Amino acid sequence: MDSSEFLNFLATRVSVREYEECCITEDDVAYLLTATSKAPSAGNLEAWDVVIVTDLCQLEALADASGNQHQIKDAGCVFCICANYIRAMSRYGDRGIMFAVEDATIATTYMMLAAHARRLHTCWIGAFDENDVKSILDLPAHIRPIALLCIGRGEVQPHRPERMDPRDHAHYDIW
Ligand SMILES: Cc1cc2nc3c(=O)[nH]c(=O)nc-3n(C[C@H](O)[C@H](O)[C@H](O)COP(=O)(O)O)c2cc1C
Repeated sequence: MDSSEFLNFLATRVSVREYEECCITEDDVAYLLTATSKAPSAGNLEAWDVVIVTDLCQLEALADASGNQHQIKDAGCVFCICANYIRAMSRYGDRGIMFAVEDATIATTYMMLAAHARRLHTCWIGAFDENDVKSILDLPAHIRPIALLCIGRGEVQPHRPERMDPRDHAHYDIW
């Protein structure tokens, strides 16, 4: 893939919130996990874990915990990507808290792009009640849910959200 193909790959990924019936296979899950394990992480500690949810009752509970975002139920498969505080803090102490959140965020991004490479559609859900998600998924105290990633197959809307001018993000040498 050359650099313009890479840009096109990135530009053709959009969040999809309407899905067909569940169609994620075990091979898809294995592919997404393998791709995500290539992500960089602080000290290569991979301080992220994922709960793969396909049970309808669990999906309904997660949708409730996310202000009834229907795409969580409709996707048929949701990955809850979590920061593993103990794994990062065992080496980095308090700084490990941030590293674990960063590792989980990068892992979510890799998963989203790996799904796109596999022609699956995703929607990243960040608006959820953390305590509710922890309780639904029975997460231990040192595991913090960072993102719910809905994964399915749906219809890509022709509308693509506008972005800021990329130059407006950049500051040179000093803010
Ligand atoms: C940290 C984060 C939290 C998000 N939370 C939600 C959410 O709760 N519900 C939702 O429908 N989309 C959510 N999104 C998706 C964004 O709305 C979407 O990425 C953005 O509008 C740009 O659109 P695009 O993904 O199609 O490029 C979230 C994305 C990120 C990165």
